[in-house]
Amino acid sequence: MRFFESVLDLVGRTPLVRLNRIVSSDMATLYAKLEYLNPGGSVKDRIAVNIVKRAEAAGLLKPGATLVESTSGNTGLGLAMVAGVRGYRCICTMPDKMSKEKIDMLKAFGAEVVITRTDLPHDHPESYVEVAKRIARETPGAFYTDQYFNMANPEAHYLTTGPEIWEDTDGQIDCLVGGIGTGGTISGAAKYLKEKAAEAGRTVRVVCPDPRGSIYHDLYYKGVQPKPSVYRVEGIGHDFMVGTLDFSVIDEIVEVSDRDSFHATRRLAREEGIFSGGSTGTALWGALKAARELGPGKTVVVIIPDSGDRYLSKLYNDSWMQDMGFIGPGDRLGTVRDILKLKGGKVEFAEASESIGHVASRMSTLGISQMPLEGADDGGGLRMVHELDILQGLVSARCTANDPVIGVAKALEGRVTLDDPLTAVQSVFDAHNVAVAVEGGKVVGIISKIDVVQFLAARHK
Ligand SMILES: Cc1ncc(COP(=O)(O)O)c(C=O)c1O
Repeated sequence: MRFFESVLDLVGRTPLVRLNRIVSSDMATLYAKLEYLNPGGSVKDRIAVNIVKRAEAAGLLKPGATLVESTSGNTGLGLAMVAGVRGYRCICTMPDKMSKEKIDMLKAFGAEVVITRTDLPHDHPESYVEVAKRIARETPGAFYTDQYFNMANPEAHYLTTGPEIWEDTDGQIDCLVGGIGTGGTISGAAKYLKEKAAEAGRTVRVVCPDPRGSIYHDLYYKGVQPKPSVYRVEGIGHDFMVGTLDFSVIDEIVEVSDRDSFHATRRLAREEGIFSGGSTGTALWGALKAARELGPGKTVVVIIPDSGDRYLSKLYNDSWMQDMGFIGPGDRLGTVRDILKLKGGKVEFAEASESIGHVASRMSTLGISQMPLEGADDGGGLRMVHELDILQGLVSARCTANDPVIGVAKALEGRVTLDDPLTAVQSVFDAHNVAVAVEGGKVVGIISKIDVVQFLAARHK
């Protein structure tokens, strides 16, 4: 017979999947660790199992006890699953910004759910954390699992997530990317990977994308806690510092907007078939940036914390996205990436040392009026050579056809990113001839008005 004693034995050992369409050849290889394949549907199953195991071992949980937690949903789901299997009661408090799907799933697992207001400071008596603490105090036989300060949280990832990643990458990982909620996942996994890498004479860079409005970015870089603001991504970021987060194993924190997070999540489902939640989009946005910076030959692993099934009424719902202002009518027409995909071809660059005359003749052969500059090592940032500047330079005798073209190059304008909607390109045309797609500090595409017309025409065909 081959079977598992209980569903809890299926927690962990989640696979790494390589991302193919969402990356380009000038980037590091990017692997996604699919934590939504845990039986409760998220990375938090690992801590739910370990927190209860530790509490039982410490004699803190008597038969029929009550687990109490303040959660954005996933820890609650993991605990409710464990409670069901171990015969405990489970009470979860949750802020009202969390999705209805999560509330329904918690109840499906048998948990009692108490909804609190999202916009309350964490130490307010009616905040989800304080309400959970009060319920635990007032309920006989209750145990407050306290994921934000319980060290069994990061320990779970030091014992399981880290070793799995090291093993499945044959110790070749160069960069780990993951969001910070309690910080348990990234702190535990990063600690293990950095220890193993040091033993092997290597280094592992740890990058944490964080929602704009969370406190972690400024706390990490400035040591001061900024005033938090409400953001829509669920499960990561926070409004107070927690005990389970170890900044010493983190190398970089990147701020990401809700809009970029949600668009990245939607792309991952459509281009890689990976159906995940908004916090994955935040992590993915940071992982793509890291993969561009590291370049080919390097290995990046990004943690996919949960499944998209709990966000169908939100980030996967166009009306909700529109109500929230994350997509506009123009978004439905397509993005910069879509336009460039249809356009195909490659970007023609002018070498900084190339003669003006040679660049001019290439422009006329190719029928283009501008070229981005490359090969400039004067730290002058991204620049463009326009035929008009060449003309004015030659007419005013400020330069000759033999001079290096860098002399007439101008600072690059009309920037867009690959995820920008078509409407962003349109507004660039108000002031510029072309829109220039920049990603990871590099020019990756140039869009003229006719390119957009052809794109729209192709769409209607
Ligand atoms: C959707 C989601 N993503 C990411 C995380 C972050 O995990 P951690 O709390 O280990 O930092 C959580 C945590 O609740 C989550 O629910």
